[in-house]
This record gives sequence, structure tokens and C-alpha cells, in this order.
Amino acid sequence: MTAREAALALFRSRFGGDPDFFVRAPGRVNLIGEHTDYNDGFVLPMAIEQSTWIAVRGREDRLVRLASVGHPDAGFDLDSLSRGADTWAEYVKGTAWAVGAGSLRGWEGAFATDIPIGAGLSSSAALEIATARAFCAVSDNEWDAVKAARSARRVENEWMGVGSGIMDQLIIATAEADHATLIDCRSLDLSPTPLPDDLAVVILDTGTRRRLVGSAYDDRRKACERAAAAAGVPALRDLSPDDLATLSASVDAVTYRRARHVVTENARTIEAAAALEAGDAERFGTLMAESHRSLRDDFEVSSEALDVMVDVASGLDGCIGARMTGAGFGGCAVAIVREGAAARFVEEVTDRYAAAVDHRPAAYVTRAAAGASVD
Ligand code: GLA
Repeated sequence: MTAREAALALFRSRFGGDPDFFVRAPGRVNLIGEHTDYNDGFVLPMAIEQSTWIAVRGREDRLVRLASVGHPDAGFDLDSLSRGADTWAEYVKGTAWAVGAGSLRGWEGAFATDIPIGAGLSSSAALEIATARAFCAVSDNEWDAVKAARSARRVENEWMGVGSGIMDQLIIATAEADHATLIDCRSLDLSPTPLPDDLAVVILDTGTRRRLVGSAYDDRRKACERAAAAAGVPALRDLSPDDLATLSASVDAVTYRRARHVVTENARTIEAAAALEAGDAERFGTLMAESHRSLRDDFEVSSEALDVMVDVASGLDGCIGARMTGAGFGGCAVAIVREGAAARFVEEVTDRYAAAVDHRPAAYVTRAAAGASVD
């Protein structure tokens, strides 16, 4: 059963009758530009085929009634929004709050997803953007994808208390099919770049789930802010690799390495987007490898499982580049592979990773999907 079918079946059993429409919001994978978004920097993500679906039917009142595969039912009143216990429904409620409940109508919705949860593929941002899309459609409001992404980020930052950047929400709301998008996280300029047909994107799920990622993420973010303050700039985005020598004199060694990752990663990301545009896959792959090393050694957000996966993947035939993706500490790596070699690559990477760590990983070959939609 697809996630769309699961949402429909759940809708019929919980609410009776049929939904008015479906909304879909994809997960995302970031090809390069990691831990740069909250430094006003550059990222190059794409949306993936795995998506969150909601079967939606509008209501005449201001109640929102929710059902989700594998979770208890939930609901709330748009006229009295307050933070409740930590459940999936808080993302829905937080989204109502962030987009401005005054302009919204109530609805009932059944949720289903095939995005692996907690794997670094942005299942929570997909939930927020799917919800924003549902509220917008049901309330006859105009859809503004960038505005929705900004609101969804506020759900994370202010409702859920997670200090993440805007990459996930923005790509999920705006992605173009068959393109990765270079995003300037300061101006929010979007530059979609076609992914060549002869390359496949493979997501490699180590099966490990991040622990304590919130505090480690926060710690990295603070180190970046310290470094920017020491350099006298608003954000690390404003430093170039040439400025690093000066910075090293004014911060401690760890803070310096954190900053070096961000500053060099911004440069790599811009170069990677240009390489993709120019059809220079080899260069793109080299930049992915450098990104992984920098995340591992300077930013220290990789993990043993991710390092093993990237090592195994990089050594295989047809692999152009591989790196950890997302916040890190577990979850997924991403590899770019020659299309013709993809099926063999998936078999080999799965076998070899399993042999090395005694756990069979999941591997998904994915197209770059389109951003959130009403279906
Ligand atoms: C998480 C956050 C993003 C971004 C990445 C790291 O996915 O939600 O905003 O910071 O980590 O690049």
C-alpha cells in the first residue's frame, strides 16, 4: 500500500466518507552544504520521492481532527492553541499557530508517510509543510511556498524549541522535479539546477538513529555564532577561506575548526552547484568527499556508522561521491552514482556495510521530486 492509499484507508475508517483532496509533502536529502543554513550560507538539497500524505476534508467549524497511521488520534480548536505534550500532533498545531490561526478553517485529516522517521530525511519538516498546504487549501488562502517555509521554521524554533535553519522547510515547499536547488539561506534566493539523467541519487540509511542531537546541534550553532562575533561579521557566511588565518588568532582551537568547516563548506557548495551545471560530475564527487571529511574532522557531527557507510560507498564501481547528509550523528548518507551502475551499487553497498557493522542498511534510489502539492 502506498502512503497515499494508507491515508485514504485511515480517513475512511476514522472519519467516514471520502476526503475532499490530498496534500503531499516530500522528504529531502541534502547533496552538499551541511550546517551552513543557520550561518546564512549555501545549501544544495533536493526533494525525494518518499512523502507525507494527508487526506483532508474541510469542516464548517474551527476544529481540527487528526488521525495518523501508528499514532493515537489527536485534535485541537483553532481558537485555543496551546503547547501540549510532545506528540506528532504538536507539529500540526504549531503550524496553525505559525501561519496565523485567525485566517484558517477547521478540517479533519488522516496522515500517512513513507519517509523514515528520525533518519535525517526531514520527516518533521514534511509534516509541517504538508500541514501548511492543507490549511491553506482548506481555508482558500493563497499558497506562498517561501512564506510557508518561514512559518514552518518557526514551528521548529519557537513551538518545538529546536534551533534548526530553514533548509528543510524551504526545499520541501519549493523543490522542482529533477532538480537540486542551490539556496542562499540569507536572501532565500533559489537556483534550481537540473540533475543529469545519467546520475542516480542513492540514500543510504545506516539504521542508526541520532541521540542527543538537539544539544550537539545547539552547541555547534553557538560555536558558529562565537566565531562570527570574534570576526566581527553578522554570520560565518560573511567570511571567505582567506579570512580563516586571521580568525585562528582570535578563537580557541575547537571554535576555529567549527568555523573552518562552515566557511569551506560554503565555498564547496557554490563550487558544487557550478560543477553540476557544467556537467563536471567528477568535481562534484570530490567536493562531496571533502565535505564529509570536514564534517567528520572539523565539525565532528559524523558517526562511526556514517563513516563506514561513506567509505564503503566511495570505494564501489560507479560511485562519484558520497557523504553524510543532514544534521549527522547517525541517519543517512547520500551517494551520487552512475545510472547504469546503480542497481549493482545498491546490492554491493548493502552487503559490504552489513558485513562491516552487522546490520543491514536500507538503500533507496530516488529521483528528485517536486515540492509540496495538492493532489
Ligand atoms: C538539520 C536542520 C537543518 C540543517 C541541517 C544540517 O536537518 O533541520 O536546518 O541545519 O540539520 O545541515
